[in-house]
Parts: sequence; structure tokens; C-alpha cells
Amino acid sequence: MIPAMLLAAVAFAAPVSAQDAPVDDEGLPTYEVQDGKVDKGTYNGYRRYHNSCHVCHGPDGLGGSFAPNLTESLKRLDYVAFADVVTNGRKVEGAGGERVMPSFGLDPNVMMHLDDIYRYLKGRSDGEVDRGRPARMGS
Ligand code: HEC
Repeated sequence: MIPAMLLAAVAFAAPVSAQDAPVDDEGLPTYEVQDGKVDKGTYNGYRRYHNSCHVCHGPDGLGGSFAPNLTESLKRLDYVAFADVVTNGRKVEGAGGERVMPSFGLDPNVMMHLDDIYRYLKGRSDGEVDRGRPARMGS
């Protein structure tokens, strides 16, 4: 019989499959869409985005009166720039007053899922992930 401890170690060491959390050639998070279904990371990103970001950035990342359309922003921002803004926030004095992107660096509900939120928004930005709740691979 295989001791449970060993099983746990094997499970932990097993590589994450592409369906769970795809990465590109540089090891940066990316998304996959097959037959209209998204990888699990992207699906999780959809959920996390709508928990923490949509109040300002609008449903499906399309922007709101408070904050920019992130499907446009991610055409310009790479992963590192994205992670920087979300972690550290940003404050801008504009003609219409102050615009504040809060810092999420101390919020585990966001930081633990930053890569997945990026996956989702990148897929939206590329026009590969549709509006609304996506279907998930393997379900
Ligand atoms: C309280 C409202 C608010 C919330 C909540 C919020 N943001 Fe923002 N965010 C803003 C504002 C306002 C800006 C624009 C700041 C500026 O003008 O540069 C912004 C900017 C950004 C940018 C930079 C966009 C660009 O074009 O440079 C990114 C990326 C971003 N937010 C991601 C997120 C993510 C991801 C979440 C959820 C984890 C989130 N935001 C939650 C208000 C918010």
C-alpha cells in the first residue's frame, strides 16, 4: 500500500496540466479555448474578476463610468505591467478629479488569483473569450 503522505507529495509535485493553468513559452500565464470552452484558470479568473473588479471596470471587463475598459488596456499592458498596477494601484489627477485604482497587494482574494484574472482578461482582450460566464473544459 502506498502511504497517504507519499500520495500527497506526488499530487503536489505533479505538473499542472494545460487545462488548469496554461502558460506561454516564457512561462507567463495565458489561456486556452477549445470548442468554446476555457481552461480552468481562465474560468476561475472570470469568477474572481466579477468578485473584485467589475464594480469599477464593468461586467466582462468592458469598462464603467469609474474605470477603463480592460479589454482595451490589455492590448497595451503586458503581464508585468498588469501585475504592477493591480498590486500597487495607481492614482491619477485628471480634469474630472482624482481617479483611483486601489492597490490589491494585500488582498489574498486577488493576489492568489492574479494569474487567472490576467488569463481571463487577456482572452477577453483578444476576442477569444466571449461575454458572460464561459463554459469550462472538463465539465
Ligand atoms: C474602486 C474602483 C476600482 C476597482 C475595484 C478596480 N479598479 Fe482597476 N482601475 C480603476 C481606475 C479608476 C483605473 C484608472 C486609473 C488611471 O486613470 O490610470 C484603474 C486602472 C486599472 C488598470 C490599468 C488600466 C490601463 O489602461 O492602464 C488595470 C490593469 C486594472 N485597473 C485592473 C484591475 C483589476 C484586475 C481589478 C480587480 C482585482 C481592479 N482593477 C479593480 C478603478 C478600480
